[in-house]
Amino acid sequence: MTGIVEGKIALVTGGGGGIGRAAALAFAREGARVAVADFAAAAARDTVAQINAAGGQAITLTGDVTRAEDVCAMIGDTLSAYGRVDCAFNNAGIAPYQVNASGQKTAEWSEESFDRMIAVNLKGVWLCMKEEIPHMQNQGGGAIVNTASIAGLIGLVTSSAYVAAKHGVIGLTKTAALEYADANIRVNAVCPGFIKTQMTADTMRRRGDAIIAQIPFRRMGEPGEIAEMVVWLCSERASYVSGASYNVDGGWMAV
Ligand code: NAI
Repeated sequence: MTGIVEGKIALVTGGGGGIGRAAALAFAREGARVAVADFAAAAARDTVAQINAAGGQAITLTGDVTRAEDVCAMIGDTLSAYGRVDCAFNNAGIAPYQVNASGQKTAEWSEESFDRMIAVNLKGVWLCMKEEIPHMQNQGGGAIVNTASIAGLIGLVTSSAYVAAKHGVIGLTKTAALEYADANIRVNAVCPGFIKTQMTADTMRRRGDAIIAQIPFRRMGEPGEIAEMVVWLCSERASYVSGASYNVDGGWMAV
């Protein structure tokens, strides 16, 4: 049986971590060759090793999505290795605790924390699209999925710049979808709920029970459950889907 992205080339940023790694593995399982990008080189290599061990093909790319030259090199290396980029999952991201803003309300965030959050979670997505889109135009099309969040849809106390960045990702996604529809490039976003990864490990320990009580499914999501949506959105099965944001959240946004 052939996979739903058989023969395609997929680039995944943040591919060394939870959701990105699960997506990289799912792309490979469904027949794509994968470029796994992360600024944590060892983590990216580990994802690649898992893909290769399962009989897939992948390469490791390292770089920071906030640096234009790194992003340019990531796309360049993908093209050198595989000749094209059909699917791009712009997923690298960080949480407030990673910019020393844990528990801080809007007026308490430092300018430095705010700037870094926007740089990674919003500008990083834009820089990736900026590099990916011209190549997709040249090759006759492609599919992009950006990782937003339920934080792109609602406010979340003490997550100010994270929420702002994720709302911004949805805006970028809709705009690029309109601009490049005639180039056969589909651009969508995925909005994960509360997913079991390194990013949520500390929150889970501190107040996981309270969060889970709000989720209709009464559990966290698995990274692989986000990956299913991402790979489907990048496949031809989603040929009429663009400019959309899909919640994968155990029903949370229906509350
Ligand atoms: P994670 O921490 O497991 O993985 C994130 C990966 O991105 C890490 O491997 C990290 O090294 C990489 N990364 C971070 N900054 C980078 C940069 N500047 N350049 C290159 N790579 C960078 O986190 P997780 O949970 O897999 O998050 C992935 C995406 O999903 C993020 O955009 C996050 O905001 C989003 N998300 C996560 C949710 C969750 O509950 N875990 C919920 C909603 C959205």
